[in-house]
Amino acid sequence: MRYAPITDRLHDLGGDKWAVHNAARARQAQGEDIIELSIGEPDITTDPALVEHCVDALRAGRTRYSNGRGEPGLVDALIETYAPRFPEIGEENVLCFPGTQTALFGVMLALAGDGHGVLTGDPYYATYQGVIRAAGAHLQPVPLRMEHGFIMQPEDLAAAITPDSRVLVLNTPHNPTGAVLTREALEKLGELCVTHDLWIVCDEVYEALIFDGDFVSPLEIEFLRERTVVVSSISKSHAATGFRSGWSIGPVEFSRRLLPISETMLFGNQPFIADMTEAALRQEFDTAERLCEALGRRAALLYETIAPLPMLSAAMPQGGMFLMIDVAKTGLDGERFAWKLLEEEGVAVMPGASFGDSAASLIRVALTVPDDVLLQAVERMGNVCRRLAEEGVSPVGDMALA
Ligand SMILES: Cc1ncc(COP(=O)(O)O)c(C=O)c1O
Repeated sequence: MRYAPITDRLHDLGGDKWAVHNAARARQAQGEDIIELSIGEPDITTDPALVEHCVDALRAGRTRYSNGRGEPGLVDALIETYAPRFPEIGEENVLCFPGTQTALFGVMLALAGDGHGVLTGDPYYATYQGVIRAAGAHLQPVPLRMEHGFIMQPEDLAAAITPDSRVLVLNTPHNPTGAVLTREALEKLGELCVTHDLWIVCDEVYEALIFDGDFVSPLEIEFLRERTVVVSSISKSHAATGFRSGWSIGPVEFSRRLLPISETMLFGNQPFIADMTEAALRQEFDTAERLCEALGRRAALLYETIAPLPMLSAAMPQGGMFLMIDVAKTGLDGERFAWKLLEEEGVAVMPGASFGDSAASLIRVALTVPDDVLLQAVERMGNVCRRLAEEGVSPVGDMALA
């Protein structure tokens, strides 16, 4: 049978990146004691009051077709939410989507096509490659270096831009590195976007989860607003990943062009989800605060526990749900270390290579387990390192971990 080229473009993006995670799940299913640090699912539940909003809306018959833009109540709540950053915002700047992921998919279809380049920091969130390729474009990696706190450097961006480049995808706080972009960094990167007439798509899904520094959106920077599209959702801020409720905020002409793409894909969102999301935006919930406090504490704990280990170096994240560890001194790359850690010690982490070539020597650890489990995981990482040192694979240091 014959298939469309998009299926070829995406065929290698599925399982491989998640092979360690999938193997861990399979072992868990067989009853093995596995510490799973491979995915970023908030480890608290959606606020029961928010769930009630959804149930009430369902009972009230909010189960019919919506419209392509989003339910008016939710669109209004989004306008109010973003007005401090984007004073001229009106309904024509807003579109609702089932999650940031779908928003990214639609936005990319509206901004890039065959032969276009889409720049993004490498490492990058695992689905960016698919979203970009689905649009017919290609990903242009801009290395994010540990020595710069994983902040994209203007000279690295400048070196990656080609005449094909159309879009720069930013993500702040960043998955997988936890880096948060400052106003100054955004302005410098933004100046290059102006010079080369690039769109900025900013994935702000972790906005509420910052433990060091302030959140700044390119939407707040006036000279960037005409070329900025923000995508976000309630997935992380309200521990509501399964509700699938997100949005895009962008210029009017852009949103007009995106609307038919969204309509043909979705035929509108779900009114009961929209009502619940409106409540999430309008009312006070402490989910983000609690989650942020736990993630920040665990990041610091993990960072401090890893610091004495000579073979591992951790990068302290400023936000998000993850911490990156460089395992180069073990003599293994991130992929081989992750497999060894799973096979020998039952700890599942993501190999950095799943997020791009420049993270090949790293592993990504999710901070979404209780503190004592995290400490156990570090102890098991220490066991792997100790054995490697005994085998003489890499420089023997003071293996300080008990
Ligand atoms: C950087 C980033 N963008 C987007 C998403 C998807 O978010 P949503 O649940 O809103 O689709 C995730 C989920 O982990 C993410 O890490």
